[in-house]
Amino acid sequence: MVAKIVVTQPVHAEQVQRLRDAGHEVVTLDSPRGLSAAELIEHTKDADALLSQLTDKLTEEVFAETRLTIVATIATGFDNIDVDAAQKAGTIVTRTPDVLTDATADLAMTLMLAVARQIPESDASTREHGTGPFQLLREPMGIDISGATLGIVGLGRIGEALAHRAHFGFGMKILYTARSAHPAAEERFGASRLPLGQLLAESDVVSLHVPLNDETRHLIDRETLTLMKPTAILINTGRGPLINERDLAEALRTNQLAGAGLDVFENEPDVHPDLLAVGSRAVLTPHIGSATAKTRRAMASLAVDNILAVLAGDPPLTPVK
Ligand code: DGY
Repeated sequence: MVAKIVVTQPVHAEQVQRLRDAGHEVVTLDSPRGLSAAELIEHTKDADALLSQLTDKLTEEVFAETRLTIVATIATGFDNIDVDAAQKAGTIVTRTPDVLTDATADLAMTLMLAVARQIPESDASTREHGTGPFQLLREPMGIDISGATLGIVGLGRIGEALAHRAHFGFGMKILYTARSAHPAAEERFGASRLPLGQLLAESDVVSLHVPLNDETRHLIDRETLTLMKPTAILINTGRGPLINERDLAEALRTNQLAGAGLDVFENEPDVHPDLLAVGSRAVLTPHIGSATAKTRRAMASLAVDNILAVLAGDPPLTPVK
């Protein structure tokens, strides 16, 4: 059957071509930003499939007003999609896990090191003033990552890939929170499962890897921040709203926390002004966890694989369960 497929935002040309080569009608909207529910309804009323991204707002109304067979999001997170409404409407939702695990874990490690060794600030001062004479006692000094304790909140695929890098590469002690125990990770990394409060209190670095939902929104706020060591670093490559940004900025400003490395923000594309005001204690990147050429290509390709499979009457490869 010839299906109509809507592609909301720019994707690799060869992936659009794969959809056309399969004989489908493809409409590329090339929106430079995510689509609102109203825009999605307008453009997908008569569509069979949607190739979408994490900034598209796939609300209950969208599923009620359309007859989509599949929504394939080019992301592993799907908090922008009302999955219950999709299920009620009989729309399959797929995502792109696994292919971005390494790139995202690499970025979490990078942010950890960048904060601990103050890389952006050192780069800026070297450009402005040169290196100056070497001084044994030059302040500010960095924080040791090697041998430190890493608390991983959510030991899924990315959390586990980070544990691997941190434990085997940097000799870090691994603590984790998870709904259920991971005996394999405990054996491999000597990891210990702790309740969140205890993990926050014992960790030198805390990295967030839980999905965003009603339970995890503002998991890190004024109250939980008080549990962390004043020398600790917080890393977030998951979803911005896991953290109350105003509370985090206040903790950094008042030296209740040493630093933060953030790739995601509560109100993307905006960054809370208080976070910008804390200066180099917060290292900020623009949601680039999966942004390597190979990974982004693999994500788009997997999303297209899902659409082609479902339109051919086969089961989806990586459905949201
Ligand atoms: C995801 O896939 O959910 C990331 O946030 C973007 O790559």
